[in-house]
Amino acid sequence: MKIKSESSIKKKTSLLCVFVLEDSNKVFGLPKFDIKITSAINQSLKDMKGKLGEISIIPISGENTMQRILLAGIGKKEKITKDTIRFVSGKIAQKARELKLKEFSIISPPSSVVEPILAISQIIEGSKMALYKFDKFKSEKTETDPDLTIIVSKSNRISKVIKSSEIVADGVIFTKSIANLPPNECTPTTLANFAKTISKKNKMKCIVISEPELKKKGFGGISAVGQGSKNQPKLIILEHSRGSKNEKPIVLVGKAVTFDTGGISLKPGDKMDEMKFDKCGGCTVLGIMKAVSELKLPINVVGIIPSVENMPGGESYRPGDIIKLYSGKTAEILNTDAEGRLILADALSYGEKHYSPKAIIDFATLTGACIVALGTNVAAILSNDEKLTKKVLDSSKRTTEEVWELPLNQDYMDMIKSDVADMKNVGIGRAAGTITAAAFLKNAIEKTPWTHIDIAGVAWTQIATKDKSYNPKGATGFGVRLILDYLQNS
Ligand code: BES
Ligand code: MN
Ligand code: ZN
Repeated sequence: MKIKSESSIKKKTSLLCVFVLEDSNKVFGLPKFDIKITSAINQSLKDMKGKLGEISIIPISGENTMQRILLAGIGKKEKITKDTIRFVSGKIAQKARELKLKEFSIISPPSSVVEPILAISQIIEGSKMALYKFDKFKSEKTETDPDLTIIVSKSNRISKVIKSSEIVADGVIFTKSIANLPPNECTPTTLANFAKTISKKNKMKCIVISEPELKKKGFGGISAVGQGSKNQPKLIILEHSRGSKNEKPIVLVGKAVTFDTGGISLKPGDKMDEMKFDKCGGCTVLGIMKAVSELKLPINVVGIIPSVENMPGGESYRPGDIIKLYSGKTAEILNTDAEGRLILADALSYGEKHYSPKAIIDFATLTGACIVALGTNVAAILSNDEKLTKKVLDSSKRTTEEVWELPLNQDYMDMIKSDVADMKNVGIGRAAGTITAAAFLKNAIEKTPWTHIDIAGVAWTQIATKDKSYNPKGATGFGVRLILDYLQNS
């Protein structure tokens, strides 16, 4: 979809959309109409309450007018959040597509309701994200995206926000579109090729480490998990270097298991297809790096994506194996389905050793236990550094990508002690599964402020996922908006 802004309403739009507060009879920004149109609007306002997401369409007849006016409820004023305009804009955009329109216009809400800059970014994110559809493998593509005109008083600041919001939304959409790919169409090599493509377009450095180098260089976790699949493992690295030379980078790490069967500790068949989404952490990092480079942020950021396919077979790693991680520490494998922590541990240690970063943030669909603990709308955050956590939590409040902190103290570290190696790759029974997984990761880092975000519940839409217009079925791109906010405010 194309997006532009106009400072006054072009009368010829197919759909003029305006936000309405619940029970207030207030429509924002509509010009004076003739008596017929005005009474039609007033009638509609009597019928609709303006509840959040409620939509009412008024057809207009006559020449030289808009074809329809759409009233979009945003709920009660005191209940407006930093997500309201995003959510409702998504609904509007989907409505415009349903009506097969070529374009639609949204009147930006007044500053008494939402701060203008925030409103613009939410309108763009909401409508762009809501129109994304995973239809790459459908032979018949029936729907086309309508273009959007935002009615707002123009300024340089507004033009900049329009551009940057489009880049952010495109980052999320890129993450969704690769995360949705089926496992036969997306292997570690495919992900490496995506990384190369975005690095070339946006002048980033891209390094891909393959076998046998991975093994030679000591990436024992990545090699062990990857050895069971004919789709070879890759360690993908992207460097965005627009900060000063001596400024330490921020390192972002993302788990990219292109398919997680569980390996020899095979998963049950029910919903196993969803394990194509076990690459979502890595896809999030790719989407962030794409946006960071397009935004030309004046900072140094490194994205590190360990990517494997976890398969059972004659060459797979096994329960009982003892492997050596990149950190030099040994791990006893007790369950080959706890593979994410092994590949992440290697990537985290590598990131710390190679880049001496000022902070490391990782994303992973790491544990089913996270869904049990927090459900499918909130991600878990675990960390070794309070200040870093606070910053991510602040970004979470601004972007409404929700995260909740879980504890990570010595008692949990004790739960992954092994009799025969430095640690084991599972905890004790099912107790605190999300935390014992994070405890394993914590061992990979020596001194760098680090935070781990478990996105198992939020990376794609599941049965208990709350309906959000801008997150249609499939991958959500969770974390892209969150970390882009963090990077721009830290
Ligand atoms: N990728 C899974 C975690 C997962 C499962 C995420 C379901 C989202 C939905 C991970 O690799 C895994 O299998 N974890 C195991 C760990 C256990 C064996 C200690 C789990 O959560 O069951
Ligand atoms: Mn697993
Ligand atoms: Zn996994």
